[in-house]
Amino acid sequence: MHTFQPYPIDLLEMNPFTKIGSEWALVTSGSKAKVNTMTVSWGGVGVLWGKNVTYIFIRDSRYTKEFIDNGEFFSLAFFDETYHTALQYCGSHSGRDTDKWAEAGLTPAFRHSIPYPDEANLVMLCRKMAAVPIKEEHFTDSGIMKKWYADSDMHTMYVGEIIDVMAR
Ligand SMILES: Cc1cc2nc3c(=O)[nH]c(=O)nc-3n(C[C@H](O)[C@H](O)[C@H](O)COP(=O)(O)O)c2cc1C
Repeated sequence: MHTFQPYPIDLLEMNPFTKIGSEWALVTSGSKAKVNTMTVSWGGVGVLWGKNVTYIFIRDSRYTKEFIDNGEFFSLAFFDETYHTALQYCGSHSGRDTDKWAEAGLTPAFRHSIPYPDEANLVMLCRKMAAVPIKEEHFTDSGIMKKWYADSDMHTMYVGEIIDVMAR
């Protein structure tokens, strides 16, 4: 079990484009009884409704979606490059079919009862504020539906208040 320190969000220096878009992250949700994690490379961090927030986009087909929908919290966790293969695994296998934690060499840990992977080096613990299903009629760019949703596996945008940042 690693020791994480609370990290003041005002001191956070990260480039969301590379951190999320190129290095990827794990979204984790659930409870001690059952917890799931999956890789994301779409999303962001910002300020909304008077809170520091993350926003992530989860397709209907993801097992992780059930955990986020059924709970109040999720985490967004970042890793060093040695975990790239683990993130690849968690982004190409479903927790419905395999024990992703064991297969990827990751360990679920909990703070404030919110799950996160213990091997991460930066973790944002989030309280779900909104779940916004994205629908075809929302697109003002007519190309998006055809390019990204040919199979109708739509995304829901989840906005989460960042209630804690932890680093090690
Ligand atoms: C690099 C990478 C980025 C991904 N980003 C997302 C994403 O932002 N949203 C999403 O719904 N799926 C994304 N995926 C796909 C899920 O991680 C993948 O379908 C995963 O197996 C779902 O696991 P689950 O069924 O256990 O939830 C990504 C996959 C990879 C490899």
